[in-house]
Order: sequence, then structure tokens, then C-alpha cells
Amino acid sequence: MEADIARVLYHESTILSRLDELAARITADYREKELTVVAILNGSFIFMADLLRRVPLPLQLDSWSVSSYHGTKTSGTIQFRQTQIADVRGRHVLLLDDILDSGLTLHAIRDRMEKESGAASVRSCVLLRKMVPRTCPVEADYVGFDIPDEFVVGYGLDYNERYRNLPYIGILTEEAIRRNAL
Ligand code: XMP
Repeated sequence: MEADIARVLYHESTILSRLDELAARITADYREKELTVVAILNGSFIFMADLLRRVPLPLQLDSWSVSSYHGTKTSGTIQFRQTQIADVRGRHVLLLDDILDSGLTLHAIRDRMEKESGAASVRSCVLLRKMVPRTCPVEADYVGFDIPDEFVVGYGLDYNERYRNLPYIGILTEEAIRRNAL
């Protein structure tokens, strides 16, 4: 797996230090509020686990499973895999996603949450924000790192379901992209 990485973008220690900072901000902002964190799976599972262990608040957790990517390109449509939304009426919702790229995913989820859930507020937190023009008008309220327009894997992020368990975030070699193409 390691040989498939052309370049490491963020080592685990760098990610965890940044999570300390993000978690401190989130803890301060939601201290007196009823917080429900909604993690967007699968990509955010490691981010979620590391971030939330740094937020010492009595929060509730839910997760949504969506997919939009095929290989290294977005399919352009969002598929929701679950039909029911947890009861967050009157609660403050923080969406957690691994990466904000075209904005399609976050926009669709935020929209559905704001229209259907009755939440008191909806904000979002992403580990990575790609510096590309957004297809959808959406911004994240908390951002770990701004990254260039490259396809990244590791720390939860996959390429055709591989590499999620790498402890760091990196860029694949061209050869690995070809070999693991569907
Ligand atoms: P959009 O384009 O909807 O993308 O903002 C959000 C979702 O697409 C996936 N994604 C990536 N996955 N490396 C990945 O492994 C990437 O560089 C990448 N860019 C987008 C991801 O699932 C994210 O939630």
C-alpha cells in the first residue's frame, strides 16, 4: 500500500494537531447547546473517531451513508443509502465530512437536513477543502486543511474502496490509479 503513495500530504501527527485546534473551537462553540453530530460515511469514519474523542461535550451521534464518487471523479448525483433521519428537532446539528470538493454532497445533505429535520441550526465541518470552484453554493464552517486540486487517499478516504486505513493523507502514483481502476 505504501508503495502506491507518490507523496504524503499530511502525516498523522500533523492531522492530530490540527484536530486538537478544531475540537477546541467546536467545544467552545457548542458548550451550552444540545449538539448532534452527523457523520457522513464512509469517508469520515477515522476523522469522526479522532475528532470526537477531543470534544468533551454530551453530544449525540448519528451517521448518514451517501455516495457520489466513482474512481477519482464525482458521478454528479448523490445517493442517500438510508431513508430515516434521526430526531434532531430543536437540536444543533454539526455535519462531519471528509472532504469538500465540488460541494455536491454537502449541499445535498445540508439542504435535506435544513428542510426536513427541524434542527435549530446546521453547520458543517470538513477535514479537507479542495481549492476548486464549487459546483454547488456551499461552504464549510470548520475546515481542517485547504488542499490543491489532487485526488487524495488515506485517513478514511478511498480510491475504489482501497487505502481508507492508511494513517496519513497522500496522493497516489499514476501506476496505482491505473492498476486499481474499476
Ligand atoms: P463533493 O464533490 O460532492 O465530494 O464535494 C465529496 C465527496 O466525494 C468524495 N471525494 C473524494 N474522495 N479523494 C477521495 O478519496 C478525493 O480527493 C475526493 N474528493 C471527493 C468524498 O467521499 C467526499 O465525501
